[in-house]
Amino acid sequence: MSAALSPEELAGVRRPLEAASWLPPRAYTDPAVWAVELERVLRPSWLVIARADRLSAAGDFLTAEIAGARVLLARGQDGVIRAFHNVCRHRGMWVAEGNGRTRAFACPYHLWTYDLAGKLVAAPEMERTARFEKRTNGLLPIRCETWQGYVAVNLDGTATSLASELAELEAQIAPWRLGEMVTVHEKAYPITWDWKVMWENAIEGYHTSALHRQSAGNAIPTSLSWVSEELDGRPWSDLHHPFADELPPPPLPDWPSRLPGLPEFIGRELVFFHVWPCLGFYLSPNNITSYFVEPVAPGRHRFVWRVHVPKERTEKPGFAAWRDYMASRIDIIQGEDELACRGFQAGLETGAWTPGRYSDKERAIWHFHRWYTGRMATA
Ligand code: FES
Ligand SMILES: [Fe+2]
Repeated sequence: MSAALSPEELAGVRRPLEAASWLPPRAYTDPAVWAVELERVLRPSWLVIARADRLSAAGDFLTAEIAGARVLLARGQDGVIRAFHNVCRHRGMWVAEGNGRTRAFACPYHLWTYDLAGKLVAAPEMERTARFEKRTNGLLPIRCETWQGYVAVNLDGTATSLASELAELEAQIAPWRLGEMVTVHEKAYPITWDWKVMWENAIEGYHTSALHRQSAGNAIPTSLSWVSEELDGRPWSDLHHPFADELPPPPLPDWPSRLPGLPEFIGRELVFFHVWPCLGFYLSPNNITSYFVEPVAPGRHRFVWRVHVPKERTEKPGFAAWRDYMASRIDIIQGEDELACRGFQAGLETGAWTPGRYSDKERAIWHFHRWYTGRMATA
């Protein structure tokens, strides 16, 4: 069987929602599909891998693995955040690990040393090497853009500017001033199944009443959830979760519950946005909570939750207790979601599953699948 998904395999998704059926099972299980995904879906997309507040000062850096690449992000002396392949130009060793603050990146293997802008500034014992120039041996750059504090990379350099793709979304979230918020909670969950299984689960409101019945299901029931009917070619979707009793779960009493200047509807519903293929976040009266799907390799990704608030609010009484409450809620929700996603992947691998039908409550997944299959079908 060919690595690419055939037109016949993709035909079910291409039908109108009420007549459509899901992606074929091997889209989630065949490593050959991953290779095509990498070239046609992941490398051409914006992959969000960090928040800019993790790189607040010159010299701050972090490393990430995504879509088969090893990425180094660093804030230069000029304040610019740059992305590089974390691959030494000599013999391919990584030049940085983890995260921290530094003046330069010295490769641990033979000490070739690169500055914060990726320029090779030292290469010991290379004087007798013919036609070797430090000037042409800097770290290879990766296209990088920051939008609303999210730092994204585009591995093949072909994507349209993130800011222009998300201009309409930016207008909707402007009152939160997300770009100025700081991250007060971050937790990564390593996952050992296909990234699309987690992503599809994250973008639909169909499962809240059942899967999250112990946690959030009563507050945001499935029956009330809805998404926009059409996307008009946008690479993102919305998801609205009105509260059952028109009230959100009570915030902890001592922490300011509502940011000033927010639209009036925000006390009555949670509003989620999903930017394909890997960033989700939702708007709350007192914070924005994000989740990132970071595809690493076939059957392996990281799911990362982050909570963002205005910096000055972290000084308010009750903040630490609220943050701990959020962290424990996220653990519970994540555990419930992982159970179902593990179950879907297990079902896929039995070979007994054939593409199921969509509920109208899964409209966002159908939108995503149409975007995905449109890219996968492009040779
Ligand atoms: S591999 Fe980096 S200096 Fe040799
Ligand atoms: Fe969920």
